[in-house]
Amino acid sequence: MSSPTAFCACTATEHTAKAAPTTVIQLPQAATDRAAERRQIWAGLSAAQPEIDSRYFYDAHGSQLYEAITQTRAYYPTRTEAGILRALANDLPQRVRFSQIVELGSGSSAKTRILFDALQRQNQAVHYWPIDVSHRMLEATATALAHQYDTLSVTGLAGDYAGALKAWARHPKAQHGGPALFMFLGGTIGNFDATSKSAFIDMLHGHMRPGDAMLVGFDRAPHASKPVWRIEQAYNDEAGLTAAFNLNCLTHLNRILDSDFDNDGWQHQAFYNTDANQIEMHLLSRRQQTVHSPYFETAPLTFAQGTTIRTEISRKFHPAPFTAPFTEAGFKHLATFEDTRQYFGVLMLLKKP
Ligand SMILES: C[S@@+](CC[C@H](N)C(=O)[O-])C[C@H]1O[C@@H](n2cnc3c(N)ncnc32)[C@H](O)[C@@H]1O
Repeated sequence: MSSPTAFCACTATEHTAKAAPTTVIQLPQAATDRAAERRQIWAGLSAAQPEIDSRYFYDAHGSQLYEAITQTRAYYPTRTEAGILRALANDLPQRVRFSQIVELGSGSSAKTRILFDALQRQNQAVHYWPIDVSHRMLEATATALAHQYDTLSVTGLAGDYAGALKAWARHPKAQHGGPALFMFLGGTIGNFDATSKSAFIDMLHGHMRPGDAMLVGFDRAPHASKPVWRIEQAYNDEAGLTAAFNLNCLTHLNRILDSDFDNDGWQHQAFYNTDANQIEMHLLSRRQQTVHSPYFETAPLTFAQGTTIRTEISRKFHPAPFTAPFTEAGFKHLATFEDTRQYFGVLMLLKKP
């Protein structure tokens, strides 16, 4: 069933679930936004180092590939962060007060279920707001969660972080819903460079209310017991899932731009850039090739053999420099949780009352 909601010109899909109705709100994308998005993609592709924003990994197929990657032996971040959350889950309601959970880039919410299990055991009701650009994954997840947990009601916000947070802040259920726990897991914050990370933190801080808390996961930089090869291996799994995930963004762009990227002309590359402390994923052009789109602002784009398009940076952090931009933005640092190998960290923050 589809119906417009009262508070904005969005599309909402309702499912009757066991405990409470699930709503997924598809945030509207105006024609001007779509045009701006295409211009932005073109600007990235025609830069000196061509690049594609990592959000374009995540159409329905890309989200499935990501889930499969998280199950591989090589991909340590998911397993490690899940272990940290398992150790934390039972005590979390004693550490921070919340009756809503807002999760940025929620994907399948697989790790958040660890927390939902603990809340269900303690019979604590919460309203969950998963936010993700990957609409189909969001809808399937929201529906499944509301069926599975009696203590959970769910409103999914399908769209970009900034637009979804704005919609959340305006929503009456959010305004009257009590303190919120924000979550940003998976080390996804590493996809922002330093400047956009600071802008993102400011934007988050602006939407949160005094007393709201946040958990942010971050992947640790290499150290004595975390060698660079271990990180590189996580982005070069043997089954080729990460390669397929990387190439899939060209298929996604072809739909948005009506372009003719040929996946066979590109090769997956992922390596650790030691100077910048980041994994970089690229697509390497196997031959000289030209790509056409009615939305490119100039002539078709030509890529010489051996040139690359950068599709992701995934920054790795030492705890203190990771925390500093949050405290500078006005957050109180409550705690940092780590696994015993110090492969991954989760920061707990509070917007000061
Ligand atoms: C690395 S995955 C992490 C998924 C999940 N949080 C986890 O820890 O396994 C990043 C998620 O963020 C979503 N995403 C990426 N860019 C986004 C954006 N600009 N706005 C909203 N969601 C975004 C993707 O669709 C994807 O589900």
